[in-house]
Amino acid sequence: MDKAQQDALKKAAGIEAAKLIEDGMVAGLGTGSTVRFLVDELGRRVQEEGLKFTGVTTSRRTQEQAESYGITIVDVDEVDHIDVTIDGADEVDKNFDGIKGGGAALLWEKIVATNSDRIVWIVDESKVVDTIGKFPLPVEVIPFGAGQVVKKFEARGYKPVLRLDAEGQPVRTDENNYVVDLHLERIEHPQALAEDLITTVGVVEHGLFLNMVDTVIVGDPNGPRVMT
Ligand code: 5RP
Repeated sequence: MDKAQQDALKKAAGIEAAKLIEDGMVAGLGTGSTVRFLVDELGRRVQEEGLKFTGVTTSRRTQEQAESYGITIVDVDEVDHIDVTIDGADEVDKNFDGIKGGGAALLWEKIVATNSDRIVWIVDESKVVDTIGKFPLPVEVIPFGAGQVVKKFEARGYKPVLRLDAEGQPVRTDENNYVVDLHLERIEHPQALAEDLITTVGVVEHGLFLNMVDTVIVGDPNGPRVMT
């Protein structure tokens, strides 16, 4: 699949998911190229159909895009609930366990997700896998002592790589932390791995999203497919 085809599938999933947002809702808005299509469609509905909803965003990037359409964005601490959060994913298996954080927004994404009544993911069909782990697992770490965390991950056989930007500098998250990507290839026991990562001092959050999602909308060449 080339990028244009993949973008068409992402766009179809984003447009389908936008139908879930109704007047008066509080909606969590994820991050990434698939979510960009969702926000474009929500922006269109706000401007052309007068849709009125409140958004809680998972990154500054998404906030800027949403506000450019006149969508009202509030801080996660300003709402008493989030009706539904729609986000992308890097991989998802048949149990709806997945990997997120390819766009380095995993921490805010997980905070918004865990405060949402419902979580929906939008992906193109290439993201649906039998076993997660081929996509390097992002882990957000505090810069202080990050080298020591990387050494610990190496000793555990996790094949960590500090994520760098185009200038060779460590990528910084919206919380100014680093991202370490674990090249695991296959994650057979995601729950145990999640426990190991989150109890490592210096780790802020990891990109394993387990048992959180109830619906996945898959962009498929035959049209968007809703998996529940
Ligand atoms: C950002 C994410 C994204 O949702 C994930 O990387 C998918 O991105 P895209 O829609 O661009 O493929 O987790 O941290």
